[in-house]
Amino acid sequence: MSTRQFLRPISQAGRLRPKLWRSSAIPIRQISNYARKTFTLNTGAQIPAIGCGTFQYKEQQEGAVFEALKADESLRDLQTDYIDLYLLHHPCTFARGEDRFPKGKDGLMRMGETTYVDTWKALQEIMKSTEKIRAIGVSHFSRDEVETLIKAGMTPAVHQMELHPFLSQKSFAAWHKSLGIHVQQFSPLGNMNSFYRDVYWSNGRVNFGRLLDEPVLSEIGAKYSKSPAQVALAWGVNHGRSVIPKSTIPWQIRQNIESDFVLDEEDMDRIARLNADLRF
Ligand code: A2P
Repeated sequence: MSTRQFLRPISQAGRLRPKLWRSSAIPIRQISNYARKTFTLNTGAQIPAIGCGTFQYKEQQEGAVFEALKADESLRDLQTDYIDLYLLHHPCTFARGEDRFPKGKDGLMRMGETTYVDTWKALQEIMKSTEKIRAIGVSHFSRDEVETLIKAGMTPAVHQMELHPFLSQKSFAAWHKSLGIHVQQFSPLGNMNSFYRDVYWSNGRVNFGRLLDEPVLSEIGAKYSKSPAQVALAWGVNHGRSVIPKSTIPWQIRQNIESDFVLDEEDMDRIARLNADLRF
């Protein structure tokens, strides 16, 4: 498990977003013209179909979210008085202590005793007593783990998972849909992120060929006057899932936000055929 995978905040409806966009060259007004489509969660709240991945935006990452829960002052720093969606980033915890990512002498992570059910209960308490959390979701959970939560009466609002045309997770995604759990795709552009080229778990798979170089995506893009990235994102949105592409480049961010368009069924099927069960 890595720092990157510990807590991955999403851009949150209208609240975190101003701070996020301020660092880019794109005016807030322009962004809000495009980022309109939303999906309804099982809590009744709306989630933007296209969010901005904050992975690699240092100041937007886990520290900020932890602080947000700790003190009202920190919530003010985040320009919010609540968090729309709090994700349990993994179904496990690390050992308590000063070090947030504690490792043993063997170099392995030292795991904690708190279960994800305990963590969920604690979050639920915060949710009830402070109204600082509006919804709770999970990430990187297995089907068994999600079922354990459901049986304990704790159905997640969202499951954020790696999902893109190279990893379509068809039956897992359909299962979530049947239960009303919203699926949010991280790494919606597959192996485009250079990060994957440097980490051990992706070695061997990451050079499979970049998702956005797949001819199918550019052929379909030509039909709609959209880029391969936009086609890959629209595929997720057309399935009713939100997508959180990360980009630091203004023209890419602009493109990504304009990825909410309807794809014909035959194009959805062609994109589905890119699946290679490749997890990066
Ligand atoms: P960059 O890092 O240069 O902004 P992730 O899978 O973590 O969401 O990352 C997506 C990757 O794809 C990033 O490396 C990002 O590049 C790149 N990317 C994001 N949007 C686009 C786009 N519209 N066209 C091409 N590449 C993109």
